[in-house]
Amino acid sequence: MENRKWLGPIRWIRFKCWFIFDLPYFIKQHQLETGLELGAKAGRSMFHTLRVNPSLQLTGIDLWEVIEGGAYKNNDANENKCRERLKRFTGRVNLLRGDAVLLADNLENESLDFIFYDLACKHMEERHPELLAKCLAKLRRGGLLIGRDFRNFRGSFYELGFVEKDIQRCTIGSRTSERLEYVVKT
Ligand SMILES: C[S@@+](CC[C@H](N)C(=O)[O-])C[C@H]1O[C@@H](n2cnc3c(N)ncnc32)[C@H](O)[C@@H]1O
Repeated sequence: MENRKWLGPIRWIRFKCWFIFDLPYFIKQHQLETGLELGAKAGRSMFHTLRVNPSLQLTGIDLWEVIEGGAYKNNDANENKCRERLKRFTGRVNLLRGDAVLLADNLENESLDFIFYDLACKHMEERHPELLAKCLAKLRRGGLLIGRDFRNFRGSFYELGFVEKDIQRCTIGSRTSERLEYVVKT
């Protein structure tokens, strides 16, 4: 289980279901209204985030290509799944197909309240520093760069000048997320 020890049943469910219990409510708690998700896949986390945050405008980016890793064997089918799943949010959602490293250049600087960075996959190894730097440019001051499994590429944050204490665990009320962390754009 993603290199983790047995957490007990409740923490394990929260670890696996961060897209239901953590991300949507963290965004709600911070009253974030304009966001970008990198790694939309089949729209799972976007769905719950939009459902819980009725004023949210959310853009999603994905390659939707077959890439290395067991979870991506049918990744080319995920664009249709994602568009279908998010149909009910038409008007609040914008889906873009392509390489986030390139598409990020088309986004307005300092325009976003948050970016959810869900790209901890083999395909992105070596590319995190470049994309993280672009993400920071797109966030407004005080905006949040939120991620799942940032621990897998800590070195990329250090390369950009962050220190460990800048990378905070997301909290939802008094509960700390098992999986999500964030840094603040200063
Ligand atoms: C961990 S999955 C995302 C899971 C999704 N957020 C969910 O809740 O189910 C990572 C996704 O990132 C996409 N991806 C990887 N590298 C990318 C890149 N450079 N640009 C755009 N998407 C990329 C993959 O195609 C894959 O669908």
